[in-house]
Amino acid sequence: MDTLYREEILEHYKYPRNKGTLEKPDITYKDFNPLCGDECQIDLHVKDNRVDEVKFMAKGCAISQAATSMLTEMIEGKSLEEIKQLSKKDILDVLGIELGPVRLKCALLCLKVLKGGIYGIKEWPT
Ligand code: FES
Repeated sequence: MDTLYREEILEHYKYPRNKGTLEKPDITYKDFNPLCGDECQIDLHVKDNRVDEVKFMAKGCAISQAATSMLTEMIEGKSLEEIKQLSKKDILDVLGIELGPVRLKCALLCLKVLKGGIYGIKEWPT
């Protein structure tokens, strides 16, 4: 089972989903992993309080790239309230492997960026 999950991580790393940027995003946020300096940016188009489109640009290791790619798939169509409920466990479940403290920061960078964007916005577009 472990091998299967690792293959999925590599597959997302090699062929990331939703890579790129959005023109005129409703929400955009960028942050970095303090341990390595790698960066991640997530752009969202929001419609009726749900994620209509998501793109990311990230520089980093396989775990961080794969986690971000998987997270973007996970949030398509989700409401902003649902996204606020996403936790560290959701990311680890989707990655499906045990991570030490350093790799944990890599895996959770995307969630930190996503939440930063969601909580940073003052008014939702209608
Ligand atoms: Fe930089 Fe993983 S080593 S994000």
